[in-house]
Parts: sequence; structure tokens; C-alpha cells
Amino acid sequence: MKTRITELFGIEHPIVQGGMHHVGLAELAAAVSNAGGLGIITGLTQGTPEKLTAEIERCKSMTDKPFGVNLTFLPSLTPPDYPGLIQAIIDCDVKIVETAGRSPQEYMTQMKDAGIKVIHKCTSVRHALKAEEIGCDAVSVDGFECAGHPGEDDIPNFILLPRAAEELKIPFIASGGMADGRSLVGAMALGAEGINMGTRFIVTEDAPVHDNVKQAILKATELDTRLIMRSLKNTERVLINDAVERLIDKENELGSELQFDDIREEVAGVYPKVMKNGEMDSGAWSCGLVAGLIHDIPSVKSLVDRIMTEAEDIINKKLAGFIG
Ligand SMILES: Cc1cc2nc3c(=O)[nH]c(=O)nc-3n(C[C@H](O)[C@H](O)[C@H](O)COP(=O)(O)O)c2cc1C
Repeated sequence: MKTRITELFGIEHPIVQGGMHHVGLAELAAAVSNAGGLGIITGLTQGTPEKLTAEIERCKSMTDKPFGVNLTFLPSLTPPDYPGLIQAIIDCDVKIVETAGRSPQEYMTQMKDAGIKVIHKCTSVRHALKAEEIGCDAVSVDGFECAGHPGEDDIPNFILLPRAAEELKIPFIASGGMADGRSLVGAMALGAEGINMGTRFIVTEDAPVHDNVKQAILKATELDTRLIMRSLKNTERVLINDAVERLIDKENELGSELQFDDIREEVAGVYPKVMKNGEMDSGAWSCGLVAGLIHDIPSVKSLVDRIMTEAEDIINKKLAGFIG
């Protein structure tokens, strides 16, 4: 399949692995890139320019294909050293950055001067248009189904993707709820030129996370995610567990009075405990509705191959068969 996305990033298949805190390590990024997709290392998991440099070098030792780095801009009292992280990306000669969280505007000159292609992940058409305006090369349009932060508009991909197609000139990929060949063909029918997957890539042999995480997603259905932190305007879709139930009880009790400190125990420092140690009830962690479509733990390579074969079958046989 050849799309503006495969051309832009120099990849074989239009499949991207979105940044994932404590999941998007070199092993997963390299596996996705080796399978012909675009793997992405999660910058903030490394935290400092030195550690990010080491992780990028580790990834380079595992693949000679293109891969990217995710930079998530979060509200923070002590913000990470973003210019330093970007300098590390530039010095390591990585040419693709996925930005998320808020507009990357203030860092665009630094990235563009270094020849970096920027794909901005966002959850609304207005933010996608802003990304286009400030010179992003592509957008990852993240629908309400997605794991992590779906924004506050609650527009699912069946509406969001064609709306993006109506407005955008730069290419975009569909993010949120993507799992298989059906997702890819559906997304492309709605105007996308590829897909971004998070949750699906966690449940693979190559994802460097505790097996408990993979088993929890396998067991989950599309009914098992919850939206938290809405009243803080920082909505996150997470897998239900004891800590999340406790957090939701606090939200119901405190309503608009809720402060971040009230739920700190359920959300701060959770990712290493879950992803590394497999302590599944230690707090809230992102998971998409797509959990309902995940039924096995393939290698990344066989997952990507399966998606492409299934997509081609749907286009050439199933859909073509409906005509005439
Ligand atoms: C465990 C987990 C952690 C994530 N961490 C980040 C992150 O740090 N930065 C980011 O931009 N997106 C993050 N995401 C979102 C993904 O990159 C992607 O946009 C999302 O998973 C797409 O929805 P899907 O899970 O339905 O495929 C995370 C997702 C998951 C499942």
C-alpha cells in the first residue's frame, strides 16, 4: 500500500505505533519498524536528554529502518527539558517526531531547521488545522475510542475522520480503536492514509511489558474502560480496576471540588508499577475500547503482516464483491 504517509516517513506499511509511556521502549519501536511500520520511542519515559540518547542508540542497534520519538507536552510544575530532548533527537539524527498533549508550536523552528518531520496527535479538527497551519507534516487524528487522553469533545472516529478529511490538506492517520485489517480499510475509506495503534501493540510478544498487562487487556472487553479526570479537563480512558473504582468514587463524591491531590495516589507514578512489575491494581493506566477486539498475543511482525493481508483481502475481494 502506498499512501502519502508511507511516502512521507519512508515506510512499507501505513501503520504507526503511537508513543506509550513505559511501553514505547526501543524493543517495541524497533519491532514495529522492522515489520515495515513506524515504531516510536516515548521520550518522556526516558525523561532526560542523556537517557533518551541511550534509548535511541539502543533502538538503532535493533533496526536500520526509520523510527520516531514521541514528545508529549503535559501540564507540569517542573516541565521536562523539552529543548534538550529535541536536541538529543536532532543529535541522534532521528528524523520523525510525534507530538501530543498540546501544540508543538514553540518547538517547530528547532525541529524543522533540523529536517524533522512532525506528526501531531490531536483529538479535534480545530487542533488538526492548527497543526497544519504551524507547519506539521501530518496529523494523527485521535478519536473518542482511544486509550489515553481523548480530549473533551467526545467525537468518535466515524465522524472525526471524515470531518478531518473535509478540512485538512496534509495527510492524516486514524488513531483510536484500530486493531486489524478492517480498521485500516475503514479508516482509509473515511479519508485517513494510515492508522496509529496503541493498545493493540501492547498485546504482542515484542512489547516489553509484564505479561499481566497483556493478559488484562486480553481479558477485557469493550465495556471495561472508564473515563477519569473529566472534571479536571484532563480526561483519560483507562482500564477499570480497584484503583480506578476508588478514584471514580472520589470523583462522584467531590464533584467539581475535586483537586488533583485527591487522586494523586491513583494516578501518580503508576506506569512503572503496572508495566514493569505487573501490579495491575496499583493505579489508573491507559487502555482503549479496542481491548474488545484483541484476542491473541502475536509477534509484531505477524500482527502487521496479518493486518496488511486482511486489508488487501477486504479491498480486493469483499468490497469489490459488493459491486455490480
Ligand atoms: C498504556 C498507554 C500509554 C500511553 N502513553 C502515551 C503517551 O505517553 N503519549 C502519547 O502521546 N500517547 C500515549 N498513549 C496513546 C497512544 O499513543 C495512542 O494514541 C492510543 O493508544 C490510540 O488508541 P488505541 O489504544 O485505541 O490504539 C498511550 C496509550 C496507552 C495504551
